[in-house]
Amino acid sequence: MEHRGTKVLETARLVLRPWKQSDAEEAFANWMSDPEVTKFLTWTPHGDISVTRALLKTWEEEYASLAVYHWAIVLKEGNVLIGDIIVMHADDYQEMGELGYCMGKAWWGKGIMTEALSEVLRYCFEEVGFYRIDGTHAAKNIGSSRVMEKCGLQYEGTRRSYFRLLSTGERVDIVQRGILREDYFAKNSQK
Ligand SMILES: CC(C)(COP(=O)(O)OP(=O)(O)OC[C@H]1O[C@@H](n2cnc3c(N)ncnc32)[C@H](O)[C@@H]1OP(=O)(O)O)[C@@H](O)C(=O)NCCC(=O)NCCS
Repeated sequence: MEHRGTKVLETARLVLRPWKQSDAEEAFANWMSDPEVTKFLTWTPHGDISVTRALLKTWEEEYASLAVYHWAIVLKEGNVLIGDIIVMHADDYQEMGELGYCMGKAWWGKGIMTEALSEVLRYCFEEVGFYRIDGTHAAKNIGSSRVMEKCGLQYEGTRRSYFRLLSTGERVDIVQRGILREDYFAKNSQK
């Protein structure tokens, strides 16, 4: 694996590009302050834009490392910032990373995250040389389950009551998924 960092990527409808501090207003308004978006996530909605600003400052600083794979998702039509996608904890020896993504409610159900994740996986396997990408989601998070399944992340098991939702306190099952280099190339060489 040879780190290449958060290169600008493009799909039919999207541009995936590095975060900038100046994205705070749009990110806060479009999803970071929305409890419906964070329902299954490991963070709570931002109560004030100062939280978003501080977060984006640290995200921008993290790009000093080429081992950081973290994109703002921008809809080409109207140049709107609609979401976030990351491959975290890129490990050089294991050649593994872990997925995270979220997007504003107004854009759910249009195939957008499937489009974004497909391109991120292409970049990770074809250009960077990852061996494995992990994904986890609450078993109840059907949308996320479908996105991962459609992009080739296989079901590997369920951890019972593994996470307590920050939103409600409910303990939920967490599904573990993964895609290996050979899975990716088997799936994509058929196209
Ligand atoms: C999960 C999330 C990223 C899905 O993104 P999306 O762009 O709406 O997903 P897509 O439109 O690409 O959908 C892929 C498939 O999932 C289905 N799907 C999406 N959301 C769904 C939902 N809430 N319930 C049932 N099916 C859903 C779509 O119909 C589609 O299936 P199909 O191709 O068989 O028709 C988005 O809902 C989101 O940002 N949620 C909040 C944050 C979050 O939960 N992140 C994931 C944490 S693990």
